[in-house]
Amino acid sequence: MAVRILGVGSALPDRTLTNVDLEKRVETSDEWIRARTGIRERRVVRHGETLIDLVEAAARRALAASGIAPAELDAIVVGTVSGRYAFPATACELQARLGIDRIAAFDVAAACSGFVFALATGNAYVRAGEFRCVLVVGADALTTMVDWTDRRTCVLFGDGAGAVVLRREDGERGVLATALHASGAIAELLYVGNGPRGGFDAPVPPPSDAVIHMKGPELFRWAVRCMGEVALEVLAKAGIQPSQVDVVVPHQANLRIIQAVADKLSFPIEKVFVDVDRFGNTSAASIPIALEEAVRAGRVKAGNVVLIVACGGGLTWAGAVIRW
Ligand code: ACO
Repeated sequence: MAVRILGVGSALPDRTLTNVDLEKRVETSDEWIRARTGIRERRVVRHGETLIDLVEAAARRALAASGIAPAELDAIVVGTVSGRYAFPATACELQARLGIDRIAAFDVAAACSGFVFALATGNAYVRAGEFRCVLVVGADALTTMVDWTDRRTCVLFGDGAGAVVLRREDGERGVLATALHASGAIAELLYVGNGPRGGFDAPVPPPSDAVIHMKGPELFRWAVRCMGEVALEVLAKAGIQPSQVDVVVPHQANLRIIQAVADKLSFPIEKVFVDVDRFGNTSAASIPIALEEAVRAGRVKAGNVVLIVACGGGLTWAGAVIRW
């Protein structure tokens, strides 16, 4: 029995914010941002635009790519920390948008690791025989939680959504292993308090506790260490040698983090998929957005071994190995 990813879809806001646009808002430069992060531009939601529109579009694209109708789903799991409501869950909003009812729908809060946590959750339920077909989404709009006067954080993030459909199948293709970790003891490295949302165009900024607080340099070191360790752990669990990995799709936080993880694991950079230059850090959405691009570009093909790894607020970190 395998838990196969049948298809993947993603959605991005149409508004592009370049580094030059940011130069007009805070004391920064295109050169600094590109050198320290690899980011050139990112997509941001407009004032009043909500995450659920992106979530629905990504979900519908993943369903279409999978040849699955909403009525065939047994559950929806959404990895997000930036849904419109404290409750109901974004997954419940999505269920209603898809015109279906009664099936389980819940969110998983693991910040930038949210998609991998949601994927592992869906995989475990299918493996246990509880569900047959699960829609897994990773989505965030962290630009609504950013202090747009703080140059240390506001240049990093973008918004988006990505989704996959998991189904129980015969054969070898599917999720081979997952590994999930958290350390609440170092939560202060990256957190956001509760409060009203903002955005690049918001007329009133959110209160100071309701924005992203980040200790960037420490987080950088933790991210490299955690993603490196979980990559080796999940590969060992899957019985796969690092040299057997065809494509690595890491969380797209920062090009320097991605390069450091690749160096640590001796993965040639050509095997690592990167789109952080165009989308910035889209949190839980970054891996499924990159996966969709990688599949469309022919970088990920049927039978390939794909490694995904992420690290985010919590601290959380996670990995999965998939035979595509
Ligand atoms: N433009 C210009 N200068 C800046 C900017 C900016 N946007 N941001 C910071 N600086 C300045 C600082 O003020 C500082 O100046 P000072 O020395 O005069 O005080 C100088 O640049 C160096 O600042 P550092 O914070 O030490 O810069 P660093 O090289 O560590 O880069 C960065 C900062 C890019 C945030 C890096 O630490 C990083 O990527 N950390 C990981 C953060 C991350 O990825 N967070 C996302 C969520 S977690 C995850 O997804 C894994």
